[in-house]
Amino acid sequence: MKHILLAGVSGAIGGALAQALLARDEESIVVGLCRDAAKVPEPLRSHSRLTLLAWDAEDDQSPKTVARALEKTIPASKGIDTFIYAAGLLHDGPMFPEKRLEELEAKNMARAFAVNATGFPLLVQALLPWFRHRDLKRVVAISAKVGSIEDNRLGGWYAYRSSKAALNMLIRTLSVELPRRCKPIACVSLHPGTTDSALSDPFSQSLAQLQVHSPAETAENLMSVIEGLSAEDNGRFLSWDGSALPW
Ligand SMILES: NC(=O)c1ccc[n+]([C@@H]2O[C@H](COP(=O)([O-])OP(=O)(O)OC[C@H]3O[C@@H](n4cnc5c(N)ncnc54)[C@H](OP(=O)(O)O)[C@@H]3O)[C@@H](O)[C@H]2O)c1
Repeated sequence: MKHILLAGVSGAIGGALAQALLARDEESIVVGLCRDAAKVPEPLRSHSRLTLLAWDAEDDQSPKTVARALEKTIPASKGIDTFIYAAGLLHDGPMFPEKRLEELEAKNMARAFAVNATGFPLLVQALLPWFRHRDLKRVVAISAKVGSIEDNRLGGWYAYRSSKAALNMLIRTLSVELPRRCKPIACVSLHPGTTDSALSDPFSQSLAQLQVHSPAETAENLMSVIEGLSAEDNGRFLSWDGSALPW
């Protein structure tokens, strides 16, 4: 993995993945997308092989701006071999996972879908010119097990669950079209495992019984899965330990 685009580099998992990718290969170049570069911690922010570009998943024009700026760092003719989407939204101020139907709000549903689902294929669309090379392309979205329809026994979390289920469907749909247009490719959905981050922080008490990984541990787990991907894995929903999850 030499030319990598990572959306959500200011997040706990995205930042740890960027660090792991840069440490893995001295020739790797990482372009990180985020709303606010100041949120990317040092020394990652000033790493010589990391370029930060502005991107907001809630602005549908943002991918076009990203593509124009990306051309200056990694021209489309050089290609991208790995695209990781690590942005996600579970809570933000008054927006909080719904416990009951009365808490469901259209505005929160729309925001969750923009960040957790729509942002991913809009970036893939803008990146198509970077995927027209002959090497394996890894197109990875960090999803969540709670987005599994089959696994949903607890209910609640309407906006987050349904937007992650939509993300999973988008991955399956892309996994049908992309091999026809940019073979070989592995387009997959990955559950990172419960990870200590701003996103999981309000639930730390209820997570106490679960295995909670540090962002660095999660990045190592995900890197093992991502490095092991082949075109045979295209269209799969995988957990952090490489096991298959039900859609
Ligand atoms: N942590 C867990 O236990 C867990 C479990 C299952 C799945 N996941 C998934 O793993 C991924 C990473 O989560 P995390 O734990 O690392 O959470 P995090 O630290 O809160 O990171 C979330 C990232 O999403 C970005 N983001 C939010 N809204 C955005 C927007 N409108 N435009 C662009 N970027 C936006 C954030 O950017 P800002 O810095 O600008 O806010 C941040 O970079 C998410 O998809 C999450 O659903 C996490």
